[in-house]
Amino acid sequence: MTTAITSESIINIQADAVVIGISGDALSGAAAELNDATAGGLQSLIDSKKAKTCAGKVTSWLQPQGIQAPVVLIVGLGDNPTAGDCYKAGGAAAKSLGNSQLETVAFYFPELDHALLESAVAGSVVGSTGQDLHKKKPSLFRPQQILWATDNSDAVANGSKIGSGVNPTRELVNQPPNYIYPESFAEQTAQLAELENVTVEIWDKARLESENCGSLLGVAQGSDFEPRLVIIRYRGNDSENPAMAIVGKGVTYDSGGLSLKPSEGQKTMKCDMAGAATVVGTIKAVAELGAPCHIVGLVGLVENMVSGNSYRLGDILTSRNGKTIEVLNTDAEGRLVLADVLDVTLGLNPDHIVDLATLTGACCVALGLDIAGLFTNDQSWCDQIVNSAAEVGEEVWQLPMTHHFSDQLKSKIADLRNIGAGRWGGAITAAKFLEEFVGDASWTHIDIAGPAYADSAKSYIDGGASGVLVRTLVNMARGM
Ligand code: BES
Ligand code: MN
Ligand code: ZN
Repeated sequence: MTTAITSESIINIQADAVVIGISGDALSGAAAELNDATAGGLQSLIDSKKAKTCAGKVTSWLQPQGIQAPVVLIVGLGDNPTAGDCYKAGGAAAKSLGNSQLETVAFYFPELDHALLESAVAGSVVGSTGQDLHKKKPSLFRPQQILWATDNSDAVANGSKIGSGVNPTRELVNQPPNYIYPESFAEQTAQLAELENVTVEIWDKARLESENCGSLLGVAQGSDFEPRLVIIRYRGNDSENPAMAIVGKGVTYDSGGLSLKPSEGQKTMKCDMAGAATVVGTIKAVAELGAPCHIVGLVGLVENMVSGNSYRLGDILTSRNGKTIEVLNTDAEGRLVLADVLDVTLGLNPDHIVDLATLTGACCVALGLDIAGLFTNDQSWCDQIVNSAAEVGEEVWQLPMTHHFSDQLKSKIADLRNIGAGRWGGAITAAKFLEEFVGDASWTHIDIAGPAYADSAKSYIDGGASGVLVRTLVNMARGM
């Protein structure tokens, strides 16, 4: 699929479909032209509420008289379009165009500022891509070409690069766990090194052993797949230290280990490497945008399995920073993986750290399935992330890091235990555990257990992986 701009009018363009974006305002630009050419047809659809202006609402209008294209999709942008509205509108239109294989579709949105247009374009790239990776006949067809009626070719090119960062994240997550396991994930990540200014370093099991990553290795030992740790560096300027390290949980499948999850809980646990996939998609987009920043991504890749060699409840693991951990639940594995990856991260001296992890079901209980939880030891760093998310229209909410949660992590036999005392506040105890491994570095943890993966489709995106927070992180990197 290619994305380009067009200067052809909505009346004359030869396309399989045109998309007209409408907000609450009076019709202007392409919408007014379309309305005139169709003898007031567009306005009457709006007046009769057959076409709605709320963000992401799509109405198809077949065979309108007076224009060349055989189909018009009317898509709502909301009353005062935000970046989130534009992403949804672009996505919803592209997704509804995906019912059949089209060659060219053309988008006519009202005059949007640069950031909003980027979001709309990114949405169209994401919305046209489905989770049908292993179907003979796709359930969502991508048009061969998407045209945008604008002269802002930069916004279109950038939006398309951002969408092309969200999609590989989704694809990595959507691929089943017999396809994506630590080694194959690392191999795919190695391809990023083909991009300008990107280098990729892969630590295999032997290296992880020599680096004393006992916490990560403990989780990995029950699997026939060997673990990996990958360090991806993007140097878009010559600053000595990375401005930001992005760390991802990469549990390619989480059975729960001996603390086995019930079948229902296991079904979607291929998504447990979404944090790692977010790191990969973010760096890909940032490198393709050529942003003048220096950032580094680290992912810890393991599979959490049951076997005669699994780690046990009661085992004591020695993490890379020397702290010992009593394992009391093998399903609280993400924090054990991240403990060592965070310690490796400290050695790279980043100005700030952000980690992403499908870490706790408790975070879904707290915030639902659409909002990511934030936890920090540095309020101003967390605020930067909150602001960046608001700019691109992704939903995040900060949860407290009150000190008494740490008491729950005390062990009688080791420095720490890997679970809290009960189930209440489980997202916070998990964050408190991670905090033990970041020293005085400026750090924010993002629990994406809710929004990373959806059982069913939304109007603007297929079901499965969402690629959540790639856009927020790309937006941050571009400002560094
Ligand atoms: N990967 C899960 C968390 C998860 C749950 C992600 C649902 C996505 C959807 C994590 O490893 C886990 O199992 N956490 C446990 C922690 C508990 C044992 C303290 C949980 O949330 O139940
Ligand atoms: Mn688990
Ligand atoms: Zn997990």
